[in-house]
Amino acid sequence: MAEAILEAHGLVKHYPLTRGVLFRKEVGSVKAVDGVDFTLHRGDTLGIVGESGCGKSTVARMLVNLERPTAGCIKYKGEDITRLSGRALKAVRRNIQMVFQDPYTSLNPRMTVGDIIGEPYEIHPEAAPRGDRRRRVQELLDVVGLNPEYINRYPHQFSGGQRQRIGIARGLALRPEVIVADEPVSALDVSVQAQVINLMDRLQSEFDLSYVFIAHDLSIVRHISDRVAVMYLGRIVERGRDTEIYDHPTHPYTQALLSAVPVPDPEARERRERIILTGDVPSPTNVPSGCRFRTRCWKARDVCAEEVPLLAVPARLREPGGPAGHESACHFAEEKQVVAAEAR
Ligand SMILES: Nc1ncnc2c1ncn2[C@@H]1O[C@H](COP(=O)(O)OP(=O)(O)OP(=O)(O)O)[C@@H](O)[C@H]1O
Ligand code: SF4
Ligand SMILES: [Mg+2]
Repeated sequence: MAEAILEAHGLVKHYPLTRGVLFRKEVGSVKAVDGVDFTLHRGDTLGIVGESGCGKSTVARMLVNLERPTAGCIKYKGEDITRLSGRALKAVRRNIQMVFQDPYTSLNPRMTVGDIIGEPYEIHPEAAPRGDRRRRVQELLDVVGLNPEYINRYPHQFSGGQRQRIGIARGLALRPEVIVADEPVSALDVSVQAQVINLMDRLQSEFDLSYVFIAHDLSIVRHISDRVAVMYLGRIVERGRDTEIYDHPTHPYTQALLSAVPVPDPEARERRERIILTGDVPSPTNVPSGCRFRTRCWKARDVCAEEVPLLAVPARLREPGGPAGHESACHFAEEKQVVAAEAR
């Protein structure tokens, strides 16, 4: 198996909730991320999926060191990077870069594309000698499918898809080993999403990259992910290889998410079972006892309010090599085909 390049162990981020102006008093906390574990192997893509507010971006910010975890650790090639500072931290940061969700707001409108893509060289001047930077930026434009002559243009002169290509070129400037892409295509038209995903797929083999690819829709990560983790209210509820999650989901939340993915074939769409979740996602300041999903789960029983289901391979599904035998945090995990096989 390939080397573990990035690992999260018991990752937690709680934001304190305070009241009062002069004497700030802590009255609770937002449990944005509440115990997340995963391993990303070299050359692989880990898809992280979940509804808005489940903590995906908070995980991403911790992975690229924009935020420090409240507890837990992140390992890069086996080394805990959450305790690093100074030069050692800077060196690691160079290797783990981020591509942001919104290509409209993440690019400074007053900077030229050349300055935007070359900006990482200002922070890490050792990555490219000053005299060589323009050529490197033009090379990057070419790599992401943009005309190198566009180097002096401004972001507003590009379409949404082209802007995200610029964001990707900036992410590549330091030749990182890991890219954390936080909903890189969610703000784009459906027709453009596939082009950007194909580009990221090509770049992955060309530059030997490992990806953490975040999305709120399972259909988006499908084609690029080797492994998928489904998040709900700050925790991973199901995790496995892409086929295990898409074709053999065992957690009710994953099944509900899958039942909402677009199915192009109208006949298959007709036969697909829709699971409509009732109620809103509970607030991360006040998470339900036991299973966090129980307030919306159609299978919930008394035990679900009392015992926290652990993320593990359920004993009765542990058939050796069986596709349902992957990790699922549910007391009553069982396989359910949501999307007909021919529609996938
Ligand atoms: N700096 C902060 N202070 C307080 N609460 C925060 C902060 N940042 C995020 N949160 C809260 O933490 C929770 C998780 O937020 P996060 O942005 O990680 O979710 P997300 O899964 O990325 O959602 P989306 O799909 O909308 O991008 C949300 O309830 C959010 O309001
Ligand atoms: S543990 Fe209970 S409430 Fe939670 S997902 Fe499973 S059946 Fe539903
Ligand atoms: Mg987000």
